[in-house]
Amino acid sequence: MKEMEKKLTINEIATFCKKKGFIFPSSEIYGGLSGFFDYGPLGVELKNNLKQLWWKAHVHEREDIVGMDGSIILNPRVWVASGHAEHFEDVLVECKKCHQRFRADQLIEEKTGENVDGKSPEELHELIVAKGIKCPNCGGELSEPKSFNLMFKTYVGPKQTKENVAYLRPETAQSIFTEVKNIMEVSRKKLPFGIAQIGKSFRNEISPRNFLFRSREFEQAEIEYFINEKDLNNCPYFNEVENYKMLALTEDMQKRGNKEKEMSVKELVNKGVIKSKWQAYWISFEHKFLVRVGLKPEHLRIRQHLSIERAHYSLDTWDIEYKFPFGWKEIEGVSNRTTFDIKNHMKESKKDLRVFDEKYKEKTIPYVVSEPSLGIDRLFLAVLFEAYENNEKRGNIVLKLKPFLSPIKAAVLPLVSNKEELMKKAREVYNSLKKDFNVVFDKSGSIGRRYAREDEIGTPFCITIDFDSLKNNDATIRFRDSTEQERVAIKEIRDKITSLIRNDKC
Ligand code: GLY
Repeated sequence: MKEMEKKLTINEIATFCKKKGFIFPSSEIYGGLSGFFDYGPLGVELKNNLKQLWWKAHVHEREDIVGMDGSIILNPRVWVASGHAEHFEDVLVECKKCHQRFRADQLIEEKTGENVDGKSPEELHELIVAKGIKCPNCGGELSEPKSFNLMFKTYVGPKQTKENVAYLRPETAQSIFTEVKNIMEVSRKKLPFGIAQIGKSFRNEISPRNFLFRSREFEQAEIEYFINEKDLNNCPYFNEVENYKMLALTEDMQKRGNKEKEMSVKELVNKGVIKSKWQAYWISFEHKFLVRVGLKPEHLRIRQHLSIERAHYSLDTWDIEYKFPFGWKEIEGVSNRTTFDIKNHMKESKKDLRVFDEKYKEKTIPYVVSEPSLGIDRLFLAVLFEAYENNEKRGNIVLKLKPFLSPIKAAVLPLVSNKEELMKKAREVYNSLKKDFNVVFDKSGSIGRRYAREDEIGTPFCITIDFDSLKNNDATIRFRDSTEQERVAIKEIRDKITSLIRNDKC
């Protein structure tokens, strides 16, 4: 069975998602639009559950983080200050024959296996010539590389003039930076503290690929965590994580061609690999969250960005990568953005965005010691890969999602549909449960077929109402992962399911 799981490809998962109603290619009746997707009835439930859990773990369960929800279109000067207008670029090449465009770095990486992040257009051109790389579509010669800004352009208001150009945000972070002072004042928070936001971002990717992994519209869950720069190593939560272990791949290990190895947080800090206790705390906090969502630690690694691949705003970035069938890939980045953004907003807006730090009795520019930035759609994909099991014994797929993530928590199933009394009882159970959970009522097909249907979409509990239910006022709960069944009094089902979901059992 493990072998089957390993062989699951991105195309198979995309087919599964479409068949079951998790994800559809956007506007498919018109041929779709590359890099855009629609979440279907089950997809939206799973995605909402992921977002809710993220919000709970980062906002409701913490005293030091508050939330916000910023607009998608911001004053375009924001992108001048942030550096996105100038630096948010990929390098493209065009085929001189078929005129298809490609990301230069991806073409080279595919052909040579070399990581060419951070190389200039000129260096990429030299490599393309040296390695004899041609158009993968028609074999034609490729143009010289040129830079391409990834922000989507639009106009605000009825005049489509240069003055009215605006951009769909390429990251949610910037509205946090522009609001930090307001939020700190109204929420009466003191440094250290953070602001959380979940929202859509847009990037006009040159080559969207791998289904949800690289799309043009996507959702981010980001924290900007602010401290006084003097407190880089003064992290009151560090002892909660210092012995936590993760697979780690440092910049140095990558340069030596070494593989990731398990290291503790303490070791990473003591060796000076992770530059501050705060950054180490946030990397491990996020890793723990991904494990809580159901990703296996052996499928996760933290990888330090090489200095040449770091974003223009970052002093130190670590990606948390998931082992997808197409390789280790980033699902979350954790960057130290320093005072880069707020300093630049102060310059561009001419506003004083310093805040008063009561500890040091001084005005200070909030220092972003860590920006955990999670791709919700990438997490969605990783969770599906992790949960998908082709169960040969049962003859069907079993989607082993954590119960709190399952789109449907329970299915209420009358054993047969032609007995009025049984149907009535089952309806009563369904009506009482639907106030607390997302439940379905299903009377069609054999009971075995109905169990299989629920297994395939990850429903953790099936509640079957049979003839004994009429006499004893009870029902069976069938557990998705073990297929075991337990008889439970109908009046106890709600509490039982609540407790199983809370304790992560199914
Ligand atoms: N805010 C970081 C990113 O969008 O990658």
